[in-house]
Amino acid sequence: GRPLDLAGRRVVVSAGGTREALDPVRYLGNRSSGLQGYALARTAAARGAEVTLVAANVALPDPAGATVVRVESAAELREAVLAASGEADVVVMAAAVADFRPAARHDAKIKKSDGEPEPIRLAKNPDILAELGERRRAGASGSGGPAGSAGAAGPGGSAGPAVIVGFAAETHDVLANGQAKLARKRCDLLVVNQVGEGRAFGTPDNAATVLVAGGEPVEVPLGPKEDLADAVWDLVAARLA
Ligand code: C5P
Repeated sequence: GRPLDLAGRRVVVSAGGTREALDPVRYLGNRSSGLQGYALARTAAARGAEVTLVAANVALPDPAGATVVRVESAAELREAVLAASGEADVVVMAAAVADFRPAARHDAKIKKSDGEPEPIRLAKNPDILAELGERRRAGASGSGGPAGSAGAAGPGGSAGPAVIVGFAAETHDVLANGQAKLARKRCDLLVVNQVGEGRAFGTPDNAATVLVAGGEPVEVPLGPKEDLADAVWDLVAARLA
């Protein structure tokens, strides 16, 4: 059985991949299945946490013990995560959030009969993970850095979640890029996946390196996504303690 080391903790997990509307029937999206985020939500609930799962376009049954908020776009995901994170101890951003959206959403379906297609212009989406880290930094009093601010304001405090976890898929210089991202986004933990070597989306297994702010990286060997989830919660529980 799992330890009940997250009992009484409020956690927010985002999962899946956002869709950015181009017109009423088309979108720009990605291949995220939501399996890793759902595994995180399920295992957190099993360890006693009160879980809000913000699910973007996931075709999976609701995990037992989680409150599920369904969203489609990055803007909707941002609203849902920020709303839930006000009272959260932990936020885990496992969702693949679109970095860009079509600059304009057409009200009517774009038709072949409209003539030559127009290029799709893109606008930048806000980085939700960086925003969470920035909010915490701005709200934290005194003690600098993610580790020092853990629990500073307590649950529901204005300083934001005590522990912030990001995910990153990197194709090269995995550790160097990951360390830079961990610092830039002010996360406590960054789960780095190597992608592009036949490791497919939608598979039940995952392997990763978990980068730890102020600590040594933890290698999680290839195995079920539950195992990676439990390794993340072990590190989260240690930081909350
Ligand atoms: O910068 P990059 O997209 O590689 O970072 C990935 C991490 O940032 C993930 O945890 C993802 O959920 C989060 N992210 C975000 N908002 C975005 C893009 C990514 O929160 N607009």
